[in-house]
Amino acid sequence: MTGHPAAFLDLPGGARALVFDEIDSTNQEALRRIRVGEGQNGLWITAKTQTSGRGRRGREWLSARGNFFASVLVKLRIPLARASELSFVAALAAGQSITELIANKGCVSFKWPNDILIDGKKAAGILIESESGLKSKENWVVAGIGINISSAPEEVRYPATFLNNYISDKINENKMLELLSKAWIRSLAVLDEEGFGVVRKLWLNKAEGLAREICVRVGDDDYKGTFEGLGEGGELVLRLADGKKMEIIAGDVTELNL
Ligand code: BTN
Repeated sequence: MTGHPAAFLDLPGGARALVFDEIDSTNQEALRRIRVGEGQNGLWITAKTQTSGRGRRGREWLSARGNFFASVLVKLRIPLARASELSFVAALAAGQSITELIANKGCVSFKWPNDILIDGKKAAGILIESESGLKSKENWVVAGIGINISSAPEEVRYPATFLNNYISDKINENKMLELLSKAWIRSLAVLDEEGFGVVRKLWLNKAEGLAREICVRVGDDDYKGTFEGLGEGGELVLRLADGKKMEIIAGDVTELNL
């Protein structure tokens, strides 16, 4: 069940969006299109609500109306092994568009791997999924971005908040898409023209917990140590108490202020 597209929308910079009222998941719809050869590089899929919104690590992403749900399709020009770079590009884009709207720019930060925090609480999350092995031999990535605009879920693992809490001129999903699609083009250009090293530096400039003691959950284990930075591919670099360096590819930062 994919629902019927409400409308095609033209976005700044020549991009387009397909706007659904309700859908299972914008990431899922993007992947469906790619699988049947209907992927369009740079196309945004958005919905007012999702019935099976998904988060990282197989979790559910609650998708209340009034919040923002979108996925952008990317036909990869870099090897599939570097797809995770796009999650940092997406975090930069979402972070920039949120920062543009907030008077107190300093309260927006990034939490590894790709959450956007306002005042230390989660306001946006990103889910990157890829598709390869197609007849066309193309590799695709779908960057799904969820932004809490007018409400935040309460029963969550990490404290959450929403954007309209912090701004006087309340914004809606259409305005968010306009800002985000522009920021996405700018952030992707940084990766294409200046490389992941610059993306990583920009992300680290606003990283929460850098050079501090943090706790990261990997599988069923918790690791405490100093957050030293990002590895070549965006891995979290943790210095453990015994002096050993650990590079974490996938996990959850559970505490930032030990
Ligand atoms: C996370 O923090 O766990 C990632 C959340 C990603 C949610 C977005 S909402 C739009 C897109 N469609 C989905 O089903 N998920 C992503």
